Amino acid sequence: MTFSQWVGDRIPTLLRPSILLSISLYHFIMTIVEIVFLEWRPWKLFDLTSVRFRSFARLWKANGELMSAEMPGNTFQLLSECKGVILDIGPGSGEMLSHFNPNTITALYGAEPAQDLHPGLVKNAAKRGLKDRFHPLVCGAEPNTLIPALNKSGILKVTSRGGTAENGVFDEICCTRVLCSVPNPRQTIKSLYQLLKPGGRMVICEHVANPWRTEGTLAARFMQLVYTLLGWPFFMGGCELQRHTREYLRDAGEWDQFDLKYYGPRDAVPFVVGELIKKHAPMDKSYAEAIKK
Ligand SMILES: C[S@@+](CC[C@H](N)C(=O)[O-])C[C@H]1O[C@@H](n2cnc3c(N)ncnc32)[C@H](O)[C@@H]1O
Repeated sequence: MTFSQWVGDRIPTLLRPSILLSISLYHFIMTIVEIVFLEWRPWKLFDLTSVRFRSFARLWKANGELMSAEMPGNTFQLLSECKGVILDIGPGSGEMLSHFNPNTITALYGAEPAQDLHPGLVKNAAKRGLKDRFHPLVCGAEPNTLIPALNKSGILKVTSRGGTAENGVFDEICCTRVLCSVPNPRQTIKSLYQLLKPGGRMVICEHVANPWRTEGTLAARFMQLVYTLLGWPFFMGGCELQRHTREYLRDAGEWDQFDLKYYGPRDAVPFVVGELIKKHAPMDKSYAEAIKK
């Protein structure tokens, strides 16, 4: 490959995130304008965290649908295979819900901390025919907010059906484009692992640090650093580009299947997509002996 071919081939993918960064900057400015000149509540700007999250919700409401029309790899197929009691982490305004199969879902819990996105989320769940089986939770994935919200919803108390917070209550946990934003990702992912039933499945579609030592490139890894320094996490609702989410997932606990593939490994926003199956519980000794006879 010549240098000019390399420039033509690589530069657009490396610069593409700058478009999203510019859009997020626009929404941040518009959020400030709304707060100061439409609501006349300039003191609200002192709560910078809520301004940032409101600005991200504004961006997602305007562009979420478009940004969800295509997803890397077989994400849509993996979502369509979800069944039983499901936890969707950070479902946003529910753009992914149209890919679930309502006939195989017993209950769907959506842990979405951005309250501004809930009206759209509930509407999309109803559109998918999940109205009574959908449980929107105003909380994050981190255990200090998720566990109390699950407790309140009643799901953690359903111990008679084999579920506890320790040995898992969910058949499936879906994480699409969200683990980049959760605080303390290592611990948060570990606690999600615990909420999964033995033999349960985790569906993953997450962008990660560029794997420049193996399939990726140093240029893309460098651009991740540049975008971070330009304020990507600040303007994008806490989204971090340089996370080693694949490793956090692998170390979260024992898996019977750990099937994650890179998509766009040479890009500034490469994804890992796939499914992980939590190790099945060891069979009860007396039961194993009984079925042997
Ligand atoms: C990029 S959007 C993805 C939405 C959806 N999962 C999808 O793929 O269409 C990220 C979502 O994660 C949510 N989020 C941010 N921090 C979170 C946290 N700590 N726990 C759970 N969700 C979070 C945001 O509010 C937002 O709705």
